[in-house]
Amino acid sequence: MMNTHPNPGAAPVRNAWLESAENPECRERIWALGLLTGLRGNEQGVFTPANFERALVLDRLIRLRRPARILEIGTGRGLGCMSMAASARACGLEARITTLDIIPAETPQRWPIEVEGRREIRFASRKEVWEKHIDPAVRNQVAEVIGPTTRTLPELAESGARFDLVFIDAGHDLYSVVHDLSYSLQVLAEGGAILMDDFAPMEEFGLGTCIAAQHAHRFFGKVEIFPTEGLVFGGAEHPEAPRGMVLLSESRLSGAGVNRWKLLGWKVAGWMLRLCHAPQAFPSEPRVER
Ligand SMILES: C[S@@+](CC[C@H](N)C(=O)[O-])C[C@H]1O[C@@H](n2cnc3c(N)ncnc32)[C@H](O)[C@@H]1O
Repeated sequence: MMNTHPNPGAAPVRNAWLESAENPECRERIWALGLLTGLRGNEQGVFTPANFERALVLDRLIRLRRPARILEIGTGRGLGCMSMAASARACGLEARITTLDIIPAETPQRWPIEVEGRREIRFASRKEVWEKHIDPAVRNQVAEVIGPTTRTLPELAESGARFDLVFIDAGHDLYSVVHDLSYSLQVLAEGGAILMDDFAPMEEFGLGTCIAAQHAHRFFGKVEIFPTEGLVFGGAEHPEAPRGMVLLSESRLSGAGVNRWKLLGWKVAGWMLRLCHAPQAFPSEPRVER
């Protein structure tokens, strides 16, 4: 079979959140969806599975928690939402997935893909790829909401929508992560859980999640940080810089509001943090040897 994962007999992974990897059906299902919606690729013909493992974590969460209402913040090309829909079907669960993105479904984007063993880079829209390659029974469980999260999340919260599982994976700068987490707390149903991607303390894009995770300790009894990328499907691009996902559970919340003035402060902090990464911002002035 063309789709077969390259390392089907891999040793068990010592990471409870990747336990779904031990199930060959689940592993193959996610590998196949990953080739359609999650490959990274360059013009030199090098293609890598970019953290397909997130779909294994989502599968396990769906099996354990059986969430009926799921929110994904950041659709991307669809690995997260389509794998959640497929996992829910595989365990006989009626789940509805709402997914938010700023990019409309009809907008073509750069799309590395493998179909019938052939890898290529297409310019295609989510609508085109999903309609052509994803089972309608799976994609019909997914509802897209288009717009910046600064608009769509407050609107969702205002509408009274509540979710049992939230997957935060949109903008990764400090302001976006703090914004998206604040509103996720507002729309989280009692007893719900939040999964965040891209905890990466050594990389600029990953600091937002690191700082937000510290604050999350006040709102959740359990904050778990664990590595995923490359552990099952291979393809970790920066093995020297640790990356992980964060799971927030055992919520201590009973409803939460969002203070928009404080959020504005985080916007300024985000700009400052970006400045801190500019090489010329560092105070050390190297002397030129004579
Ligand atoms: C890393 S991808 C999401 C991947 C997806 N969750 C998955 O598992 O396959 C991030 C997505 O977030 C979207 N995004 C970034 N900032 C956003 C914002 N402020 N509002 C809405 N979507 C945003 C991007 O357009 C991109 O498609």
